[in-house]
Amino acid sequence: MNISVLAENTSRDPAFGFEHGLSLYIETNRHRLLFDTGASGLFAENAAKMGVGLAGVDTAVLSHGHYDHGGGIKTFLALNEQAAFYIHRRAFEPHYANHAGEKAYIGLDPSLLPDSRIVLTGGRFIIDDQLELFAGVKGSRLLPSGNLDLFVKAGDEYRADDFAHEQNLIVRENGKTLLVAGCAHRGIVNILEAFALLENRMPDTVIGGFHLYNRAADTTEDAGIVEEIGAFLKDSGSLFYTCHCTGLEAYGRLKEILGGQIRYLATGDRLAVE
Ligand SMILES: [Fe+2]
Ligand SMILES: [Fe+2]
Repeated sequence: MNISVLAENTSRDPAFGFEHGLSLYIETNRHRLLFDTGASGLFAENAAKMGVGLAGVDTAVLSHGHYDHGGGIKTFLALNEQAAFYIHRRAFEPHYANHAGEKAYIGLDPSLLPDSRIVLTGGRFIIDDQLELFAGVKGSRLLPSGNLDLFVKAGDEYRADDFAHEQNLIVRENGKTLLVAGCAHRGIVNILEAFALLENRMPDTVIGGFHLYNRAADTTEDAGIVEEIGAFLKDSGSLFYTCHCTGLEAYGRLKEILGGQIRYLATGDRLAVE
């Protein structure tokens, strides 16, 4: 399958704008899939530059209810007339982050919710024999400390976000399995363990942000934690492509541990996954 990075936090090529957000285009032998839409309409501008036809997308998936992944949903729905958009049923709850001592809204645009093409998901959600979503990852190993700055509002009360609205995508093709995570707020280690429980194996390839950079506090995850995560990833035997909220500093540490088993994906990159 082929993957194009439509938006993430960096770009290697000045032709492509970048932003704090994530958007990936995944083409399999049966599907043209959009995974997240970045923070704005930038993903669509970059798609046009890369020759990716968003009108031809048949399936769209949102990883979780944060604006840096769902900010382009409206743009996508205007450009594409047929794709179903799979979004967790709790993703539209009001999400907030600490920002300069205040709570800043970082959720989705709630006016989108009545759109008839949005399919609300939850738990394990099988789209077909090639595509599957899973949410509700349990486990508390090596959770991102950046989660402590993230909230969901219930009435007038800000509660710690438990990321029930986060879902991960499994893509199967030619006997190989790809796992795609958006921000891995539930922790990439817990997500991989949940995957292994479902599939009795580790994925061949993993793509996603690992949330090792806390944007609210402008800090990188503790070096010892990153090393523990790196050791787990190495033992998994999977091949990793990371980007977005992993942050370049934590990526550098993971690269020291994983070597060629991990690579960074920047906006405009194209990737063939076996
Ligand atoms: Fe997020
Ligand atoms: Fe994110």
